[in-house]
Amino acid sequence: MIIRRGAEAEIHLTTWLGRRAIAKHRVPKKYRLPILDNALRAARTKKEAKLISDARRLGVSTPIIYDIDLKEHKIIMEYIDGPRLKDILTQVQTQVQVQIDENVQKSLLRKLGSAIGILHKNNIVHGDLTTSNVLKRDEDLYFIDFSLGDISDDIEAKGVDIHLLMEAFESTHPELLDEFKYVLEGYSNEFKAASEVIKKVDEIVNRGRYMRA
Ligand SMILES: Nc1ncnc2c1ncn2[C@@H]1O[C@H](COP(=O)(O)OP(=O)(O)O)[C@@H](O)[C@H]1O
Ligand SMILES: [Mg+2]
Repeated sequence: MIIRRGAEAEIHLTTWLGRRAIAKHRVPKKYRLPILDNALRAARTKKEAKLISDARRLGVSTPIIYDIDLKEHKIIMEYIDGPRLKDILTQVQTQVQVQIDENVQKSLLRKLGSAIGILHKNNIVHGDLTTSNVLKRDEDLYFIDFSLGDISDDIEAKGVDIHLLMEAFESTHPELLDEFKYVLEGYSNEFKAASEVIKKVDEIVNRGRYMRA
């Protein structure tokens, strides 16, 4: 059963040895030459599966990879039964639910930041760090969708990661931007070079202002 159809991939809910699982299937793109399309889909599938398991080995929660099919360009992984961070933040905004305790939210945001700190400390750049790509199950935050990620020690690439997340917070609700400091707090506690990255984020923000002016 298809649960989501993105620009690059279809997400199917399936089973794997009796367990609920997700199949992420990278679909062909007609505008690409078939030979290039195949190579690109295989490379992205391989990279995504590798980064998901690299992150997990470092102690950052990600789905368990059950299987990879490089001919079908498919990853079969653990199904994470929980809301996206985006939905949690939207709930906070609209207060549909009883507002989650302020301390609970702070610790969630710190946890988010420290997980990113672990990734960056180990030179894993996520590449698409939005609030749709983080799921919450029990007390853990699961990172998914590493297909645009990379292994890199580049401060700028890490800054782009943080900046994208910041923008995601901002677009959910401007007030949430104020809470972003807790993310940076967790990030800085985990990662020694955090201040260099945060300086880069400032630069990126200012560059954006300049371009719009
Ligand atoms: N392992 C998973 N467990 C539960 N839901 C998932 C899982 N992987 C993906 N999803 C759902 O599918 C959506 C799209 O998956 P994602 O890997 O982010 O693909 P895309 O590249 O299309 O953004 C996610 O936002 C999430 O809602
Ligand atoms: Mg995604």
